Amino acid sequence: MHKNKPHITEVVLRDGQQSLIATRMTIDDMKPILKHMDSVGFSSLEVWGGATYDCCLRFLNENPWDRLSIFKKFITKTKLQMLVRGKNLVGYKQFDDSIISLFISNAAKAGIDIFRIFDSLNDINNIQSSIKYVNKAKKNSQGTICYTTSPIHNEDYWIKLAKDIEDCGAKSLAIKDMAGLLRPGVCYDLVKRLKKNIKIPIHLHTHSTTGLSDATNYKAYEAGVDNIDTSISSFSNLYAHTATESFMSMIYDDNSNPYDMNLLSKISAYFQSIRPKYTQYEGSMRGVDIDMLINQVPGGMLSILEKQLTDLKKSSKLKMLINEIPKIREDIGYVPLVTPSSQIVGAQALMNVLDNKRYKTLNKEFVDLVNGKYGKIPGKVCAKLQKKVDKSNATNSVTDNKLKIQDYKDEFSSFCKSNDLKDYSNNETDLLNYILFKKESMDFYAAKDRTTTNEVIGLQEGFGLYIND
Ligand code: CO
Repeated sequence: MHKNKPHITEVVLRDGQQSLIATRMTIDDMKPILKHMDSVGFSSLEVWGGATYDCCLRFLNENPWDRLSIFKKFITKTKLQMLVRGKNLVGYKQFDDSIISLFISNAAKAGIDIFRIFDSLNDINNIQSSIKYVNKAKKNSQGTICYTTSPIHNEDYWIKLAKDIEDCGAKSLAIKDMAGLLRPGVCYDLVKRLKKNIKIPIHLHTHSTTGLSDATNYKAYEAGVDNIDTSISSFSNLYAHTATESFMSMIYDDNSNPYDMNLLSKISAYFQSIRPKYTQYEGSMRGVDIDMLINQVPGGMLSILEKQLTDLKKSSKLKMLINEIPKIREDIGYVPLVTPSSQIVGAQALMNVLDNKRYKTLNKEFVDLVNGKYGKIPGKVCAKLQKKVDKSNATNSVTDNKLKIQDYKDEFSSFCKSNDLKDYSNNETDLLNYILFKKESMDFYAAKDRTTTNEVIGLQEGFGLYIND
């Protein structure tokens, strides 16, 4: 693309549909448009991540690896990009290096070119090994800043983190603003300073929830950002992103625009035509939500919490729940809210609100988070809460995950045998499904010949344990 203009990553296939229709878009609905998307000239298409992987197995009766191979088949010119939750990969608990290596080498082989790797606490120790294995596979390792605002998250904090990420060997840097908190002027200064302090390309990913994203993306462009993430217009804004065509129109006039706007219009019309199928998964937000600037709840997290409360017939408590989240965040040292910290904080907020008493019931994952099992907490845990956590004596195995690949393989193999299935454990990607999503994979493989979509949505599935990045 033109000199001094940012490259553009189209995110509708992953984050766009994740933010707007709870990741329910099927590969069959994507297939007809992939070839057209491939000829636009995007720097990459974001296609895969934790929520897509989870939803494929849990709700859509799709093998996520089959989905990836279909992307690879139809998208031959544009790079494929995925989102990795650091040591958690695409799951919710931490895995050891042998499994991280197995996952990344298979994802690279299956066609992923750019791995955006983040940790919800911005703990560099949690992203280091993924960066190493992506580099080993000769793919683009993109280290990530999970942007948030708090008394401890200032510009110096971000610059130091970015330098650490570069020193780790990351080939590019992403600023990931899950909740749309990054203000245009702040973004301009941050990108300018990052450009002076690091050499690797800088990508910006921001959400439209608060109405700032168009201006923020534009200021990032003015500051010299290398890549912007956008979503096709018919799947843009609200909980999602700046519209692809709008951003192109901001930075190019009609004569200099290198993109084929008619082609983009066709692509948008296609997505528009399938969107009504997913109406039941749309959130209730209209326009923008300024409360987010106060409460800092990411768009996807908000739509899931809303759904959980509706399922519990407690929709009237939404406001209370949203207000509880920043209070918890302050108590636990201002963790950014993104998977898995967003689910953990969200689930604890739900308990506090349902109990009508704060920390009466402590979720196991919350106890682990406070105790540093997920990584280093950015700030300080409130002493009163720490006392309660110490007293609760809750122990959990979220990170004490000692199983080795062979153990999983044996387990999966005997599961296949006892269900009269062929032995899927010999195939590395099937084995990875089992390692990453054991219960969902057992259901998935046991019902391999099933033809109807699994529509089970409920508290157990949703409760703090699946969503959004
Ligand atoms: Co996002």
